[in-house]
Amino acid sequence: MSHALFDEYKKIASQSIHSAVALPFSVYSERSVLELESKKIFNNDWIFVCAEGQLSDPGSYFAMDLAGEAIAVIRTSKGELIALSNICRHRGTPLLDKGFGLIQKNITCPYHAWTYSDEGDLKAIPFQGEVEIDKKQHCLPKFHIGCWLGLVFVNLGEQPQPIEERFAHLSDYLSNFQPERFIHANSGDTEVWQANWKLAVENAIESYHLFKVHKETLETVTPSKNAYYVAGSSEWAIAGGKMKTNESKIMQWLTGETPEVYKHYLLVFLPPNFIGIMTYESFDWISILPIDETSCRIYSGGLSESSAEEDKHTKGFVQQFMAEDKVICERVQQGMKSTKTTGGKLVEMEKILVDFRQFLASRLFDVEPSPSVESKQASLFYEPPDG
Ligand code: FES
Ligand SMILES: [Fe+2]
Repeated sequence: MSHALFDEYKKIASQSIHSAVALPFSVYSERSVLELESKKIFNNDWIFVCAEGQLSDPGSYFAMDLAGEAIAVIRTSKGELIALSNICRHRGTPLLDKGFGLIQKNITCPYHAWTYSDEGDLKAIPFQGEVEIDKKQHCLPKFHIGCWLGLVFVNLGEQPQPIEERFAHLSDYLSNFQPERFIHANSGDTEVWQANWKLAVENAIESYHLFKVHKETLETVTPSKNAYYVAGSSEWAIAGGKMKTNESKIMQWLTGETPEVYKHYLLVFLPPNFIGIMTYESFDWISILPIDETSCRIYSGGLSESSAEEDKHTKGFVQQFMAEDKVICERVQQGMKSTKTTGGKLVEMEKILVDFRQFLASRLFDVEPSPSVESKQASLFYEPPDG
């Protein structure tokens, strides 16, 4: 693809909210763009995988595709979390099945049964014959792994920036919700959407579309007009909103006044792929990863204080609004083929999209990111709760 598209991508992704227009449509459909994003982002930055609590038993693992690279995060029998290449060192067969699973002592290749320990050391080669093979030269490559707030991230890069540095200052905004209470992990569904990964991310972080796309679902709980920007930069961003509660006046009188902050939610965006919603009750997320330039895979999961939180009603509600998002994202993807028109101006409610674009510009084109900004609502989240 021409460099003209990359130049245009760089220019528009660097715009401030006052000048920002939608990204060029072809960045959502060109293979060369995804190749650049794979190299500079998915193979070189911290990518969210799952929660530590989803891998608590020795031998439990989560295997997934990370921009074409098969990886597995494993809780070893020694209790350590490690990230390994999930490709057999013999002739390249993917080893563990995708998703969550449990390793029975060793990892055995389904093709010729080369067998590895749960730390990736090659242990056994059936019918080796007279040929000499140095097992030490055939171990599974290891990747960098980092944990933050109970969440597990991998980095396929050579020398990653420490994860604490990557998310520095973000924890300040979450402290009122005491997320360290959320130790119960649950896994949701996995979906495939026929939409570029960036379309799904942009859709997940902005609240502008709630009143239209989710009229009967999200809008009844977290209306567009109650949403606001909190803080952000090229490294992470958070938005918030006030929830509509159906708590009656009498209930409030009986239970006492709830501190204001607990009536709000926080949307936590850790680019490229993690979008979480934190309330006083729970921390639920989706993770979005590209399959190819016009499709992506969406994983969901959550953390809460107790297992009781995960009731049928909530699950049905999530499935409902996720279905609405899938329909609209796949519809937008159709528009991305157009060459006769271009995208227009972003509105103020889409400010968080500018942080995502700053992330893209900094990683893909080495653009110096703008300094982080904070809105006037931000103090609600780090000042002691009232009430
Ligand atoms: S490819 Fe794995 S044992 Fe042959
Ligand atoms: Fe949505």
